[in-house]
Amino acid sequence: MAAPKLAFVPLLSLLALLVAYWYRPVDEKSLEERLDTILSSLLRAEQKVGLALDRPPRIAIGFGGCLDILVDGVALLQEAAIEPSYSPVHHNFIETDVQLAESFAYFFPPGAASERYVSNATLFKRLVDSSKNLTEMRWALGGNAPVMANRLAAEGCDVLLGGRLSPDELSVLSERITVAGEPVNDADIHLIMEYPTGAKWGKHISRRANRYIVHSDTHNPMIDSLEDFKTQLKNFNPDLLVIGGLQMMDSFPFKPGQRESRLKALQELLLSMDQNIGSHFEMASFVEQSLMKDLLEYVIPYSDSLGMNEQELPNLLSLIKGGNITVLSDPYPRVASILDQMRELYQLLRAQILKEGQRTLSRLHVHTLAFQAMMVTKGSIWKNTMSATAKASLTANRHVCGSSQIDTRKAKLIMDDSFSVSREVGSQRMPFRESRPVTCWEEDDYEICLAPVLVCTEVFQTAGGGDNISAAGLVLQI
Ligand SMILES: *[C@@H]1O[C@H](CO)[C@@H](O)[C@H](O)[C@H]1NC(C)=O
Ligand SMILES: *[C@@H]1O[C@H](CO)[C@@H](O)[C@H](O)[C@H]1NC(C)=O
Ligand SMILES: *[C@@H]1O[C@H](CO)[C@@H](O)[C@H](O)[C@H]1NC(C)=O
Ligand SMILES: *[C@@H]1O[C@H](CO)[C@@H](O)[C@H](O)[C@H]1NC(C)=O
Repeated sequence: MAAPKLAFVPLLSLLALLVAYWYRPVDEKSLEERLDTILSSLLRAEQKVGLALDRPPRIAIGFGGCLDILVDGVALLQEAAIEPSYSPVHHNFIETDVQLAESFAYFFPPGAASERYVSNATLFKRLVDSSKNLTEMRWALGGNAPVMANRLAAEGCDVLLGGRLSPDELSVLSERITVAGEPVNDADIHLIMEYPTGAKWGKHISRRANRYIVHSDTHNPMIDSLEDFKTQLKNFNPDLLVIGGLQMMDSFPFKPGQRESRLKALQELLLSMDQNIGSHFEMASFVEQSLMKDLLEYVIPYSDSLGMNEQELPNLLSLIKGGNITVLSDPYPRVASILDQMRELYQLLRAQILKEGQRTLSRLHVHTLAFQAMMVTKGSIWKNTMSATAKASLTANRHVCGSSQIDTRKAKLIMDDSFSVSREVGSQRMPFRESRPVTCWEEDDYEICLAPVLVCTEVFQTAGGGDNISAAGLVLQI
């Protein structure tokens, strides 16, 4: 009995293939129409509200910044005469040529992303000088704070930026930005050594494209623009304070107590702020658990709003619940699991007993590749959550495709036709409507808005995405 049935299978799948092929042009057309409807609806939602104030919003943002120098990793090592090593070693930081070669040999063959601090200034300078000899070298403004500042300025805000920047960095900042912090001659440089799949370094072959980053920051880990920023803050009179860039303190060889003292100085600044002025903290990927713990003490309790991605959310949540930080989590999480984690984080943070000057969390923005999710306390200072979610979603495409005009032929949806609001059994399912792509609903004391992202299929750049997206989401909410 089994044999005849099996025999039909290939025939049926062949038929299915033929049918699929036959109808393919129609399917593609309707998919394109669907994306066009979603795009025009998102644009309408974005434009529904203007800036809420009748003057440009004033936003103060710290800290830091860097120059990203992008080069081919193998070409750079050759130019700097660093020979391939065949004894891969996992070094926490780099002091010598040999350590660099051993460390690169560790990450390059599997194609794993990595970032290392170089403690030897001579070596680092040699690498930077060598990079300038490469014809394929290009540079870009880096660091959360300047990227967010440029985005906010582009959206019509006046910005105070805390950071010590070099002439090169200053030259690409918008005129709407005032910099607080003494200029420096030499920028903190992040040397981004990229390599494609199948790249060869001696006998090593990379299994996938990725990058190995080295830096030797001196200004960023010390948040050394903090004092100037604090001085100018009073007169600047901001509508919103944004803190980001603190991941540059991650895995930096501080002297004992040094990091804590800088974070305490930041806490002082946050304490001195008028409680009516909103404060937002933009997370980033932290690998050093003790730094995350410090942030939970000195920064997060003074924030009304938090922004993060799908990796940073479980990381923070796990730490608050007394566990370890999670280094890698699902890069394509389902809506229901993100929403459950957001509820848990929101409730845990709001349940904390406030000490003097601390704030109750009232806004949570999680950006993922597939969708944008915002959770905002009812009756809080944050306005226009629906439009802000639409704007965040559109910005995700604009940023990654590198164009303010969105082309639906270079976009795809990776969100399902409907989503469940929680992993709990019996949870409500929300249909996803193309003509009203931002879904908003209320629970307890908060509102949730969720929008799909028209995921860009022709990637121009991904680095700095979270910063542009978070900044865009904030603009419409003040
Ligand atoms: C630092 O790097 C330079 C140049 O690569 C090297 O000559 C020197 O030995 C290194 N210093 C230390 C302490 O390893
Ligand atoms: C850059 O190229 C010049 C000319 O070829 C050479 O003299 C110099 O040593 C190179 N610099 C580095 C750091 O490799
Ligand atoms: C992020 O925003 C800034 C400021 O508007 C802009 O200069 C930059 O190009 C954006 N990034 C990308 C890749 O679009
Ligand atoms: C957390 O990390 C510590 C130190 O790395 C380790 O000893 C401990 O086993 C970890 N705990 C869990 C639950 O993974």
